Amino acid sequence: MSNTKLKQFMSQMSFCIDQGLGKETQKKATIKCWQTYVQDMPTGNEEGEFLALDLGGSNFRVLKLELGINKYFKMDQQTYVISKDLMIGSGIQLFDYIAECLNNFVNSQGIKSTSYLPLGFTFSFPISQLSINSGKLVRWTKGFTCDGVVDEDVVKLLNKSIKKSKDLNVTICSLLNDTVGTLMSCAWLNSKTKIGLIVGTGCNCCYVEKVKNIKSYNGSSTKEEMIINLEWGAFGDNDELSDFLTKYDKIVDRNSEHPSQQIFEKMVSGKYLGELLRLILLDMIKGKLIFDGMIPKILNTPQSLTTNVISLIESDPPGTFTNSRKFLREIGVNNSTDSDCMNLRYAAECISKRSAHLVAAGLTVLLNKMNTKDVTIGVDGSVYRYHPFYHQLLVDKINELVNIGIKFDIILSEDGSGRGAAILASAVCKKSKE
Ligand code: BG6
Ligand code: GLC
Repeated sequence: MSNTKLKQFMSQMSFCIDQGLGKETQKKATIKCWQTYVQDMPTGNEEGEFLALDLGGSNFRVLKLELGINKYFKMDQQTYVISKDLMIGSGIQLFDYIAECLNNFVNSQGIKSTSYLPLGFTFSFPISQLSINSGKLVRWTKGFTCDGVVDEDVVKLLNKSIKKSKDLNVTICSLLNDTVGTLMSCAWLNSKTKIGLIVGTGCNCCYVEKVKNIKSYNGSSTKEEMIINLEWGAFGDNDELSDFLTKYDKIVDRNSEHPSQQIFEKMVSGKYLGELLRLILLDMIKGKLIFDGMIPKILNTPQSLTTNVISLIESDPPGTFTNSRKFLREIGVNNSTDSDCMNLRYAAECISKRSAHLVAAGLTVLLNKMNTKDVTIGVDGSVYRYHPFYHQLLVDKINELVNIGIKFDIILSEDGSGRGAAILASAVCKKSKE
């Protein structure tokens, strides 16, 4: 994608962000710019023991975290499986299961059920936040469709399920998006962090905005800044990206759980990149460009390729095809030629490069808008974490697009968004004690 095209994308995204921040325009905006009620950055001196729940990425995690002065940090965690049935079942079932996992974790950690347990809830879906610890689900994304949750306060729903187990004395102190958890987690280590990005199963971004620019805010806080959860995955839902979509994007969208929603997310995030590769390969085979025109059976099954295949293929050093050949043997192509492997890699590169360049363009919109000299961007998510060049692709493209004089750094959030959840829970606990 040329820089001219990316600049067109940037000006459209910039317009949509302004709409999202506007009082009258937020309703029709695709990038909603949700207020998070997070107005204080971490100090590094947060203290206490916290529980955290992390729902919405490829893993559902329950965590226990300890924070202490001089950046003391300890974390224990347990991953639990969210089955496909739970993802598409009833909301009550989902929240009961979350509470059950929490109960199981608390017991396994030997935490006394009678002690007061502050909890940070990372819930990585679009939430119209009502306060730091309440918010209504606007829509499900990333394959979840549980009924009875949209338009409901997810903290109330979780509390209801927690109350069913009399042994649990948990207080949900904070509700946050994974981008916010990532920003807070990285800001705890590096105070220049002002942007949080996820490129994982889904893709989204948050940033620190001046309250005076958030026209949709009608609260009474005297603080100058607030983190805004962009929910930029929904960019394109009003056809803003029609010039950018390929026929493959349109098929991915049509066959998804939420057609016509999260259009930008479907071009860049891990839930969809493997499927794009499958569709492109099918077309190349049909055009007799690869595999002698023979379709491996598995490629006829939708969703049969996962995004980590792209990372694996691109991890082969240039001119070598060890991973590619292993993958091809796995899908039943035993006699691949070098040209097959080169074409396979080319398809993978087109997909990951487009993803990284669009995300870089989005980040540049924010860097230019914030106009702060030196900004650190905290990132998490399996696409960014496991792709061999994603980081470099982002850095190089931002450097080409960003305004002169703005310096930036991109760092990986090592411990996920759990620490961010604990930091926020600690701030809320402190306030309620005061
Ligand atoms: C994890 C964070 O590390 O990354 C989660 O703790 C986040 O909060 C997730 O949702 C995103 O990545 P993925 O690839 O698991 O969707
Ligand atoms: C989806 C969710 C968003 C989340 C992102 C990354 O876009 O709607 O809330 O931050 O995925 O997990």
